[in-house]
Amino acid sequence: MILVTGGTGLVGSHLLFDLLQKEDKVRVLHRSTSRLDRVKTVFGYFTDYVEVLFNKIEWIEGSLTDLDCLEKAFDQVTQVYHCAALISFDPSDLQVLTKSNVEGTANMVNFSLSHKVEKFCYVSSIATLSTPTEGTKVSENTPWNHTEEVSVYAFTKHAAEMEVFRGINEGLQATIVNPGLILGGGFWRSGSGLFFKMIHKGMKYFTDGKTAYVDVEDVVSIMVQLMEKNIFGERYIVIAENWFLKDFIHRVAGEFGVKAPQKKAGKWLLEIGWRVDWLSSKITGKKRKLTKNLAKTSVKIQNYSNKKIIEELDFTFKTIEDSIVSTCAKYPKP
Ligand SMILES: NC(=O)c1ccc[n+]([C@@H]2O[C@H](COP(=O)([O-])OP(=O)(O)OC[C@H]3O[C@@H](n4cnc5c(N)ncnc54)[C@H](OP(=O)(O)O)[C@@H]3O)[C@@H](O)[C@H]2O)c1
Repeated sequence: MILVTGGTGLVGSHLLFDLLQKEDKVRVLHRSTSRLDRVKTVFGYFTDYVEVLFNKIEWIEGSLTDLDCLEKAFDQVTQVYHCAALISFDPSDLQVLTKSNVEGTANMVNFSLSHKVEKFCYVSSIATLSTPTEGTKVSENTPWNHTEEVSVYAFTKHAAEMEVFRGINEGLQATIVNPGLILGGGFWRSGSGLFFKMIHKGMKYFTDGKTAYVDVEDVVSIMVQLMEKNIFGERYIVIAENWFLKDFIHRVAGEFGVKAPQKKAGKWLLEIGWRVDWLSSKITGKKRKLTKNLAKTSVKIQNYSNKKIIEELDFTFKTIEDSIVSTCAKYPKP
């Protein structure tokens, strides 16, 4: 039996579609508030047999931090794909992020060890990789820098990754993928989907930053291949290309046929922006949209290397150009 966490999210739902082509039954841990219909939406992008595939899923209700539920979820499980995580950059979410991402991953590792799970795949992030010395690309060997100011999300994903490495030291056959910004359809209120939505609505500003992108189908394909080929004990940066934010926003806007932002948000504007955002969140109680760290990251120029995974699997990534076109095509028509 395969257990998937985060099956109702972008990565998890695409992973389920992939696994269910070959597997008769896959168990998915989900919360009572989860939107299971989104899984059907994703399946609908690729097949007419949505219900047939969806009915192969064994849903088990509960959270990563509910030990009784995990005990039931791990019954007869031989493989685990741990995709679930809370994604938030709001510093006030540190406690909930720690609970879901760090304690949740520690639980997944501990249950996998005690239930003698044969294979474990964990979805980390490039957020757990620090800034390398100038002029070099970020690689799997770029060490975590304790002195660098990072987002609460990055902090908890790093701590979660450490839990998986602890599991590896204790004998767990685990593999870790570190994807860049993941592109794909079906989730327009979070992650890159929200980005597509904002560009579609019309953005006023762009920034100078540069980061790495990857298509969700490639992330899933790599996860499954690493597990099938029994490649464990390592982490892999999973990115297709590094793009300047401006180029990315302009390309998406072009594909949507909407006006691209013409004004650059420089450092000073972002400095004012995050302070205004902080103040308005204090007054309205609403979630932060532009944190100090996000403002800093949005102008950071970072290049990531995908050499290790390409060499390991002889993998060819879908181009980001193709990924933008296919993601935009899935965007709901007004
Ligand atoms: N999206 C990106 O660009 C990106 C980039 C790099 C790495 N990642 C990593 O990739 C993984 C998947 O991301 P995604 O984009 O698919 O995220 P997503 O669409 O936001 O989905 C997150 C999933 O995690 C589940 N979840 C969160 N907290 C949970 C808890 N306490 N117990 C059980 N389930 C919980 C959610 O369940 P509900 O349906 O109940 O909310 C949802 O299924 C995450 O580990 C993320 O850190 C994402």
